[in-house]
Amino acid sequence: MNLPEPKNININSYSSGLTRIVNSANLIKLSQNETPLGPCPEASKIIKKRLRTLSRYPDGNSNLLRDKIGKKFKLDKDQIIVGSGSDEIISLVCQAFLEKNDEVILSENSFLMYRIYAQINGARVVYSKEKNNTFDINETIQSITDKTKIIFIANPNNPTGTYLDQNDILKLRSLIPSHILLMIDDAYAEFMIDKDFKSGLDLFKDFKNVVVSRTFSKIYGLANLRLGWGYSSKDIIKSLNLIRPPFNISGLTQEAGVASLNNQKWLNKNIKHNTKWSKIFFNKLLEKKFKTNNPCANFFLMNCDQLNLNSEDVFNIFLKSNILLRKMTSYGIKNSLRVSIGNNKENRKFLEVLEKKI
Ligand SMILES: Cc1ncc(COP(=O)(O)O)c(C=O)c1O
Repeated sequence: MNLPEPKNININSYSSGLTRIVNSANLIKLSQNETPLGPCPEASKIIKKRLRTLSRYPDGNSNLLRDKIGKKFKLDKDQIIVGSGSDEIISLVCQAFLEKNDEVILSENSFLMYRIYAQINGARVVYSKEKNNTFDINETIQSITDKTKIIFIANPNNPTGTYLDQNDILKLRSLIPSHILLMIDDAYAEFMIDKDFKSGLDLFKDFKNVVVSRTFSKIYGLANLRLGWGYSSKDIIKSLNLIRPPFNISGLTQEAGVASLNNQKWLNKNIKHNTKWSKIFFNKLLEKKFKTNNPCANFFLMNCDQLNLNSEDVFNIFLKSNILLRKMTSYGIKNSLRVSIGNNKENRKFLEVLEKKI
């Protein structure tokens, strides 16, 4: 019997690692770079209040949310597209721009979804070497061929926790020919307090070959609702909207997004919390001989080469104490784990295990 055959797509699909452990209600989950303080109270309230609207289709163009984003960031609403997580923005960009035999360039330890969506759309992925775990401009520019369509960079990058400063990211864009799309992923930009850092949104509002993506999953604490957005020229946004699913964002999610953008205080509280704990984590990790990134975003990459234990041992020691870290096997990063900043109680527990058991 002949059965329908799916396309032959040769990818390692995304693996989020363990997100929960069976029978462990008290698990401390520091594995997915989420915000430990949760969404702002107004976002939670609006969800409860709007439960009666579940039977109605949402506004398919997310108008109120795009209005709000436009006002808050001083952007033209028609240059904004909203997606089911910034993940969907990455997917739409790949669907809209990539054809078989095109090439995309990404740094070797970049966020996994760039390579996955590029490959699904038939493109070849070219990895540019990093220097000190950091995106290398020269390597990237040298990798450009006449088949290159998109260059991706997350700034700061997950999982390396490194970033290009303002001068470097401006330099990168200036060296990329205008027919190549530069996608700048600002997923962790709000956490950044370094003076030499500027987000993609701050720098590239008026460039026709740049797409910037943002997410509500990280600092805004709405990972479960799946909400992100992209900003680019009107032409590019038009081409993404052409293939965007009609009702990709639920009404509850749109309203929770608006409520979150209205509460700057909550955002500042998150930044303060993250900055304080990042310094403490960083010092303790170094003291315990982990090689790690400077405080950046809301996570640390923990390389275990200088320890007497390997990353699997360290993972299991934390797991025995009910703390879940992220293995780096799916990224191909050897002997390393990633830890996200948690809430006060979770962080104290992490540091206690680090102190006593490692
Ligand atoms: C760099 C980066 N970009 C994008 C995403 C996707 O986030 P979301 O789809 O939840 O907006 C993540 C998630 O971890 C990330 O680390």
